[in-house]
Amino acid sequence: MSKTYNIAVIPGDGTGPEVVAEGIKVLNAVSDKFGFKLNINYFDFGGDRYLKTGEVLPDNAIDELRKCDSIYLGAIGHPDVKPGILEKGILLRLRFELDLYINLRPVKLYPGVECPLKDKQPEHIDFVVVRENTEGLYAGSGGVFKKGTPDEVAVQESINTRKGVERCIRYAFEFSRKRKKMNKVTLCGKTNVLTFAFDLWERTFYEVAKEYPDIKPDYAHVDAITMWFVKNPEWFDVIVTDNMFGDIITDLGAMIQGGMGIAAGGNINPEGVSMFEPIGGSAPKYKGKNIINPIAAICAGGMMLDHFGENDAANALENAVMEVTGKHIKGLAAGHMGLSTNEVGDLVAKYATEIK
Ligand code: IPM
Ligand code: MN
Repeated sequence: MSKTYNIAVIPGDGTGPEVVAEGIKVLNAVSDKFGFKLNINYFDFGGDRYLKTGEVLPDNAIDELRKCDSIYLGAIGHPDVKPGILEKGILLRLRFELDLYINLRPVKLYPGVECPLKDKQPEHIDFVVVRENTEGLYAGSGGVFKKGTPDEVAVQESINTRKGVERCIRYAFEFSRKRKKMNKVTLCGKTNVLTFAFDLWERTFYEVAKEYPDIKPDYAHVDAITMWFVKNPEWFDVIVTDNMFGDIITDLGAMIQGGMGIAAGGNINPEGVSMFEPIGGSAPKYKGKNIINPIAAICAGGMMLDHFGENDAANALENAVMEVTGKHIKGLAAGHMGLSTNEVGDLVAKYATEIK
């Protein structure tokens, strides 16, 4: 009997539903070819539901989502909802409550994709950022005092636990070993200034590194790493970092791989349910126009297949994306693809089922 994966789909806001539809089109196509089944359940969380009902994430939602094999998310963010409400109430809440402690963000330049860096080719840009996803400045620790007065004090603390840091670092070393590329993990930190938090990260990093003699441990300060991303991206294999630095450097990473139209990510709990998403926003101004690029969402679907261990299907999907970027698509930005959203999805689905 063929395997069935139960997938909870949250299309979300703006162009989320359009890109997710193309992702599912491709996933359905490869599942037929590679002999597994997808059982999809839709959840309408997002801005429209919030504006109608005042509810961001119903209480039973987390329990419902826990029962599925994986979550596939479009985008969260609505122009009529104050920034922060949906992001915190849906995306961040799911990361915390489902303990999605890894945010995995591949940075890979596909053939045919225009790179803003002079002289950089696909062979120069192919690394992965392992971002800690449940602690650091995102933990919400801190407070305000005398708010709105000239004496106002605002404190926002970065929480770093030995357990949280260690499991993230360990994941990065395991990932580098599985990747079999440069066998190198770079810790991205700020040990020269953040001498409490990154002392914990650094000590843990080199302790864990001893268990992986085949993997080279490496270190770079976060400010320096932004320079190297631009100047020498070929130096990197796997980068591990905290939540805030990971948030920042992966937007830069997305740009050097061609932009938000192509950047995918996984919010992973290796022991539980994980959630895959294109990392760009909901792009409300392009909603309903059939011009948004669905490749990031399609690639997020590919990461989900990889996570399930359906590696052949994931490879076919990625190769199909590369065929489309290499041979068909003019640009990645919305409205500049030379193809509609649907046509990109159709082409990827066609190649993914043709390629051996
Ligand atoms: C991301 C986003 C989120 C984050 C926002 C929307 C809360 O920027 O996934 O990188 O800061 O983590
Ligand atoms: Mn971000």
